[in-house]
Amino acid sequence: MSDTPSPSMNVPPLRLPEQHAPIRDAMAQRLLAVLDSGGYILGKEGKELEQRLAAYCGAKSALALNSGTDALIIGLAALGVGCGDEVITPPFTFIATSEAARWLGARPVFVDIEPETFNIDPARIESAVTPNTKALIPVHLYGHPADMDEILPITDDLGISVLEDMAQAIGATYKGRKVGGLSAAAALSFYPTKNLGACGDGGMLLMNRERLLEPATLLRNHGQHERYYHLSDGLNSRLDEFQAAVLNVKLDKLDEWNGLRAEAAAYYNAHLDGVPGITTPKVAEGCTHVYHQYTIRVSSEGWVEWQAPQGWGAANSPAGIKAGAHRCSAKAHSEDGAAYRSGRYPEGEVPPTHGKSLPNPARRDAVMAHLRASGVVAMIYYPVPLHLQNVYSIYGHRPGDFPVTERAAAEVLSLPIHPGITRAEQDYVIAKIREAVVEL
Ligand SMILES: Cc1ncc(COP(=O)(O)O)c(C=O)c1O
Repeated sequence: MSDTPSPSMNVPPLRLPEQHAPIRDAMAQRLLAVLDSGGYILGKEGKELEQRLAAYCGAKSALALNSGTDALIIGLAALGVGCGDEVITPPFTFIATSEAARWLGARPVFVDIEPETFNIDPARIESAVTPNTKALIPVHLYGHPADMDEILPITDDLGISVLEDMAQAIGATYKGRKVGGLSAAAALSFYPTKNLGACGDGGMLLMNRERLLEPATLLRNHGQHERYYHLSDGLNSRLDEFQAAVLNVKLDKLDEWNGLRAEAAAYYNAHLDGVPGITTPKVAEGCTHVYHQYTIRVSSEGWVEWQAPQGWGAANSPAGIKAGAHRCSAKAHSEDGAAYRSGRYPEGEVPPTHGKSLPNPARRDAVMAHLRASGVVAMIYYPVPLHLQNVYSIYGHRPGDFPVTERAAAEVLSLPIHPGITRAEQDYVIAKIREAVVEL
């Protein structure tokens, strides 16, 4: 480690105004040009961004949208996903991934993750496929690519479309190719904290199949092919020119910023590898990681009893909202969770904890509490796996259905990482983790 860390420090997860400082004038200039142009929606900044990002990711075309969530919804809709279809996703992701399927009336079918990369486990995909499976969304979680060479032969064989959720992974590579250009389509998020973040919401759909562009373009803008002539229902999901202008300036810095994240990650690795109870993130062979998150594991010990949340198993949303899949026929969304639960464990290998307990997060929570009390903002992405979220309780899942995900949810801890993080800040974080593990 470098100099002795200061006795007390605040280490935020990121510092956007500071990160923007070297490009602030360029951003201001471009924003003023948009202001003075009078054209605020679907203009030249958005077009430029689409062309540049399609080229950057090696995709055929791109469509600038309001959010990553919309990119997932529009992407799935363009692929033909609708009521009664099934969409395979990992249960260890931000809810937007499965929510997109549900908004189209489809059912998310969860497949557990690999313990090292936190991404969908290709070996478990085939057993989750049914005649209704229409699409699969691999999530490149934390900025590490999913194992596409293992996934695509399975989906290609079975005629299942693949839409990458690359909200966290712009710039990451898989066997020399950027994510976003690896499958039929990909969804990007420009949420401000992302590696390429706007100063507001934004997203993009990248497409590698010619036939997706037309439906996606219609869906972005009320199904309108000519002003006030509508071929379908759609959304208002147009990225505004101000956000596109910000992103066009920030895109010039993306590779440099991703490089700085990777250097910071290597520094954490060098000083946290070997700390008892801590596992640092691994990078699979042939992949590069863009460290949207630098996520360690704090090993869990023992089990805690699972308490079903209030309203668990209710047919409708506990909040009473009839949205998305709740509008579909009961048949399309029957409470046949048992069918999906069956067969996850080989005969005779169902552990006694199944249905009752979850790995105990106490050790991770203690490390996080020590960091927080010391001024370090560490975060948990994500504390409750999707299959145990109240909203999906109709599917009848139980603890133990996705054991790798459940263990990850009890162990993950994301440390501050951003292009401007200093070695002194990292030394402080490392010192506080070492202090915390002594107490465990
Ligand atoms: C994995 C993942 N998917 C989808 C999204 C949704 O993106 P947005 O917030 O732009 O709608 C996010 C963003 O938080 C995400 O992290």
